[in-house]
Amino acid sequence: MNTKKLVGENAVDYISDGMIVGLGTGSTAYWMVVKLGELVKKGLDIKGVATSKSTETLAHELDIPLVNLSTIEKIDVTIDGADEVNPELQLIKGGGGALLREKMVASISDRLIIVVDESKYVSNLGHFPLPVEVVPFGWELTRKQIEKLGCIANLRIVDQDSFITDNGNYILDCYFEAIHNTTDLHMQLNKIIGVVENGLFVNMANTVLIGLNDGRVKTL
Ligand code: 5RP
Repeated sequence: MNTKKLVGENAVDYISDGMIVGLGTGSTAYWMVVKLGELVKKGLDIKGVATSKSTETLAHELDIPLVNLSTIEKIDVTIDGADEVNPELQLIKGGGGALLREKMVASISDRLIIVVDESKYVSNLGHFPLPVEVVPFGWELTRKQIEKLGCIANLRIVDQDSFITDNGNYILDCYFEAIHNTTDLHMQLNKIIGVVENGLFVNMANTVLIGLNDGRVKTL
């Protein structure tokens, strides 16, 4: 059972004619975008806002019309994936490195719908390392400041090189033993000079759709 496909495709039911839709990033949101492309071909009239260059490319391939975030004031619904979700609908995002654009898009969305498979639903956040986007200038200093908050922060490396975000920054993957006070940690991280944004999404998600191994989709 491809639970990412199941839940991603299911989420398009929340999209209707005339909407501006935030298009998430990752292997679960991918299936939502592909399904949306099919509906657009059949005449559904929506405009998308991409949360990453990869989603932008996919939307172009599928002829989904896009608008630039700077030209709009609000988004009707955004559908995106996550790396972890807890029962309070708090999230860790950024496994794909798109957390900044994802958070900007989510921040002006009337509704944020998260699509995950059941392995992502956890009682406490923090097993998945928290991605933090930092500017390359002086990043080692920024890392030291972040580690004072009680984690080990590893520079994300892909193919033996530093991973570079769509915004030209680095990602530090931060290993906390567990994250208990998400609101505090979110604020403390973003106060550190050199941090651009972190992958904690607190009080942002309205609905979480979980693709279950038995083929059902659970709604939280
Ligand atoms: C990208 C993200 C993704 O939504 C998150 O990593 C989940 O990805 P996937 O659906 O591939 O497991 O936050 O920055």
